[in-house]
Amino acid sequence: MARILVFGSLNIDYTYSVPHIVRPGETLTSTALCCSAGGKGANQAAAAAAAGLDVFMAGRIGRDGVFLLDVLGRYGVDTRFVRAGGTPTGNAIIQVDESGQNSIVLFPGGNREIGEEEIEEAVSFFSAGDILLLQNEINGLGSLIDKASGRGMRVMFNPAPFDDSVFSLPLDKVSMLFVNEIEGAAMAHLSASAGYDEILGRLSSLYPEIGIVLTAGENGAFYGSGTTRSSCSAVKCEAVDTTGAGDTFIGYFIAGCERGYDIPEALRFASAAASIAVSRHGAMESIPFLQEAEDRR
Ligand code: RIB
Repeated sequence: MARILVFGSLNIDYTYSVPHIVRPGETLTSTALCCSAGGKGANQAAAAAAAGLDVFMAGRIGRDGVFLLDVLGRYGVDTRFVRAGGTPTGNAIIQVDESGQNSIVLFPGGNREIGEEEIEEAVSFFSAGDILLLQNEINGLGSLIDKASGRGMRVMFNPAPFDDSVFSLPLDKVSMLFVNEIEGAAMAHLSASAGYDEILGRLSSLYPEIGIVLTAGENGAFYGSGTTRSSCSAVKCEAVDTTGAGDTFIGYFIAGCERGYDIPEALRFASAAASIAVSRHGAMESIPFLQEAEDRR
């Protein structure tokens, strides 16, 4: 089976439980504060490893983030390419309301200090057919995409959080794109109110060579590639905390494809895993292990 390199963010998540997401000008008292492992890159690495893939994490942490390596290790992620020291670990200030919805402010810390030499070191360990999975929380994405595709690796990209720098990346070298409706609408140059079919239709015609996965929370998930379409409904669950659910979906979807599932099966597998993550608190530590996700499918 292919190996997967996740070159991405590792964050310390500070999660505040709140009655509602704070409004501009408002001061709000939280009911709980939890400090836990997160970062879109690290969460996706943990999910892919939990689902049975051979996963390597690369990125940067400060001395304050060493516990993240322990959590990743429990999921079976190889962390040899994570550099520690110097700038503090990135962190996320997360509010989670009573319906499980969240709102996140990021401090990038070491995530935005990735150097060319560490990119070269990590990518050169992999071969044609292996996977590079990226998100938009680190610097160096253009170089990573160029170097990995130059080695024949398959590049998969989750442009989250979205900003216009994404358009300057060599997206023609990407084989799979993972977006939610906000990222999808922005990449498709559509308004935030655009529907799922419209987003998928526009993205599939803008990027006909890329497989596009559109995650839509409780409305399920959609897949498009050229004129091919597929979708699945969300697996019903009691939402406690949606943080990391999209990351869980992405790791499990890739694992499903690598295990030989067809696209509808891989969507269901990923939805089952995400529904478990949503029913638990936290980001990385809410990700289920394989058997649990299989049982929910
Ligand atoms: O996708 C959820 C993640 O986004 C959190 O763990 C937080 O660290 C931010 O990166």
